[in-house]
Amino acid sequence: MQRMLLKAEGLKKSFNSGQKDNFILRGITCSFDQNKTYAITGASGTGKSTLIHLLAGLDAPTAGSVLFNNRNLTEMNTVEHERFLQKEVGLLFQLPYLIKELSVIENVMLPARIAGATETDAREAALDLLERVGLFNKKEALPATLSGGQQARGALARALINRPSFLLADEPTGNLDEKTGKEITQLLITLQKEWNIGLIISTHDSYVADVMEITYRLHDGLIEARD
Ligand SMILES: Nc1ncnc2c1ncn2[C@@H]1O[C@H](COP(=O)(O)OP(=O)(O)OP(=O)(O)O)[C@@H](O)[C@H]1O
Ligand SMILES: [Mg+2]
Repeated sequence: MQRMLLKAEGLKKSFNSGQKDNFILRGITCSFDQNKTYAITGASGTGKSTLIHLLAGLDAPTAGSVLFNNRNLTEMNTVEHERFLQKEVGLLFQLPYLIKELSVIENVMLPARIAGATETDAREAALDLLERVGLFNKKEALPATLSGGQQARGALARALINRPSFLLADEPTGNLDEKTGKEITQLLITLQKEWNIGLIISTHDSYVADVMEITYRLHDGLIEARD
């Protein structure tokens, strides 16, 4: 099976503050292999979320590029970019952002349905994932009735329903207590190994950074790798 590669090359990002351009990322070059796990660390405000958004193509760089299998994200047309977002990257944030009017299983099925799966196939895949993340018995529940950790599991199932090549997670354990955070991290690693999903996790949590194979640290707009 082809192994996917996500790469940042000379990535710069500035936000315009008044007259002056404020460069948050000043030239980031790093690559992410589908069969590995990565932590992105750095103090608050160093650009971790900014980098995750750029890697997912949710925002455009000021200069430099993000390449998915050597294809520049900014050169993708709408159809290609939609496909990239639907099939290649799963996104996870600090807050689960489950749709509150939908049940857990409906939330998990949604990206599959949007990507064109039939109701039956989406339901089958969702049930399978809910089982894996330990949320099977809560499948018909509304998100508001779940604990924080259960909501995080639901969001994880939703992020993985289309079996993406990469999971991009922006502080997925940031809102959880230590024990739940560790459980979710272990679950991520288990699924990463089983399904060959590249894991890219921004984190303040030293436990998460310790269990990832490669750590990239952001500092002063630049990045350095630490094995
Ligand atoms: N849309 C925006 N407009 C202006 N400035 C922004 C925008 N997004 C981010 N920034 C600025 O860019 C810097 C980096 O923000 P970012 O959210 O990427 O940091 P972070 O490393 O994720 O921080 P944290 O650990 O607190 O989540 C911050 O100074 C922030 O204020
Ligand atoms: Mg952030």
